[in-house]
Amino acid sequence: MSFNPTSQAWQCPGAKIPTYVFGSGTSLAEHVAQIIASLVRERNALGRPTVLGLPTGSTPVGTYRELVRLHEKENLDFSNVTTFNLDEYYGMAADQLQSYHRWMQEHLFDHVNIRPENIHIPNGTIPLEELDAYCRDFEDRIQAAGGIDLQLLGIGRNGHIGFNEPFSIRNSRTRLCTLDPVTRKSAASDFFGEENVPTQAITMGLATILEARKVLLLATGEHKSDIVRETVEGQVTDRVPASFLQDHDDTTILVDRAAARDLTGYATPWLQGNIEWTDEAIKRALLWLCDQTGKALLKLDDDDFRNHNLHRLVRRRGPAARLAHRVFRWMVETIQYHPAGTDTQRVLCFSPHPDDDVISMGGTILRMNDDGHEVHVAYMTSGNIAVFDHDASRVADLVTEFNRLFEIDEEKSRRVQQTVVDALASKQPGQLDVDAVMRIKGLIRWSEAKAATMEVRCQKENLHFLDLPFYRTGTVAKLPIGEQDVELICELLEKVQPTQVYVAGDLSDPHGTHRMCAAAIFRALDQTYKNLVGCPEVLLYRGAWQEYELHEIDIAVPLSPSDLERKKKAIFMHESQKDEALFPGTDPREFWKRAEDRNIDTANRYNSIGLPEYLAMEAFARWNGQAL
Ligand code: F6R
Repeated sequence: MSFNPTSQAWQCPGAKIPTYVFGSGTSLAEHVAQIIASLVRERNALGRPTVLGLPTGSTPVGTYRELVRLHEKENLDFSNVTTFNLDEYYGMAADQLQSYHRWMQEHLFDHVNIRPENIHIPNGTIPLEELDAYCRDFEDRIQAAGGIDLQLLGIGRNGHIGFNEPFSIRNSRTRLCTLDPVTRKSAASDFFGEENVPTQAITMGLATILEARKVLLLATGEHKSDIVRETVEGQVTDRVPASFLQDHDDTTILVDRAAARDLTGYATPWLQGNIEWTDEAIKRALLWLCDQTGKALLKLDDDDFRNHNLHRLVRRRGPAARLAHRVFRWMVETIQYHPAGTDTQRVLCFSPHPDDDVISMGGTILRMNDDGHEVHVAYMTSGNIAVFDHDASRVADLVTEFNRLFEIDEEKSRRVQQTVVDALASKQPGQLDVDAVMRIKGLIRWSEAKAATMEVRCQKENLHFLDLPFYRTGTVAKLPIGEQDVELICELLEKVQPTQVYVAGDLSDPHGTHRMCAAAIFRALDQTYKNLVGCPEVLLYRGAWQEYELHEIDIAVPLSPSDLERKKKAIFMHESQKDEALFPGTDPREFWKRAEDRNIDTANRYNSIGLPEYLAMEAFARWNGQAL
């Protein structure tokens, strides 16, 4: 890979569209904002307008935030900027919670000096009979503005750009389109359920997008890594609409490391040519080779290396047995039965939602408690968004009956119950809950978290419910991390004085709760321990859905059958999160089943490279001190 000194990004070899990998989502956003700012400044200086094509979604949030900062702090002038947004849901009024009009106002337009008449966003309320003329007019306006100078794009997990879903036509123009099930599923959380997501949208066409003079496609998070690979390494196909960008003269793809993880030039750079054989690269290559050959490390021979493009490695650092033995030793050292050691330590585990702790590291928490450590768990958010209305009303009912039974201030609880019943009866899909309902939902998750940690032998006084302000919007969209969030974490670090800290280090959705919580913790660590001097050891665990790759694991904690049973029991305490409720008809035990499968799979992967055979393992990676 070649280093681009101006942008702190690496150009990934082997990609059919120039692709740059950034160390973090933040550096990517800053770089994109700089490109836009330079263009606007250049054209302002010439007295010419700048025409931007803009997306919504989680990906450009950081870029818009940085543009706002550049406007406020560095006088970036938007008075001569014209914008065209890619799309809007059909049937959506501009002031509705999920409208892209509202989204653009809140994330960008309200904060910069753009002229309202220069903003163009498809109108989702145009009557059907006027739609064709409206779409033609949208295209005419782009032409009248001189065409799009710079088109910013996100990418859907199915490869859509704008709402040009798979099998959209290359020559398509602005039009009404039907949303793909993958798109509707991705938007489900914004609408409190897939069934509430509109089925149609107005989108710029592929031809409209491809006419832009310059295109920047951004992708962050590992949930985009598959589709990024298909876009830049695959054939041009209407199955992946973004692949049409291969035929565009001036498109650049900008990704963070998580979204780059499946790119051949990034994941297996030795297949693209010469690389520097660092210890890290050797470990990755050998574990990859085990996977390719189906052999354990110590069974690899020189031919295996030669047959898999690793001639240079075996020639320079070999023979095979020597290389394999090195990696074998490194991997053995990752297995730690006592992850916090055997001398008494104070350990602090941060759990973004009230169940991430036991799902991802319930066995490790149990082990550390059994080892005599003081294990604290900090719940960063109430998790109330993920509780169903019927559970809130059941609890309100139960408490009212409880109070009646024991003759406790019956009147007051009846009043609260009535508020809950009335609010839920009149609630529209996607509407915010009233305060009483939100509090009850938070309470449900609080009680489940408490019960679960008791299963893994935590002490009640070591549980901390931070209820960070950034999460308290009552909707799925969150506020940016603020000083108050960071301050609350600093206070806890000060109070507990941990020697070891566990953080959910998911790299998926950059604006998802896990990643935001991690970013807040890293800021707090930076603030508490200047230059990270005296900083506790920070270990990252993956969230509920995935596990680290073998080469990423720094510590693997083996679990016995009885550890695993207890961990499952702890997860089962989170009754309101049973998948049965989410997907009627599925196995109600699915959440803990998934955790079990994942831990068993990690143990099997260790075993397959020739390490001891354990039943299950929980895995952790050491934090490298970098912001996300
Ligand atoms: C939004 C749009 C979409 C998104 C894409 C990625 O205006 O046109 O194509 O860019 O769905 O969305 P996020 O960024 O939320 O992953």
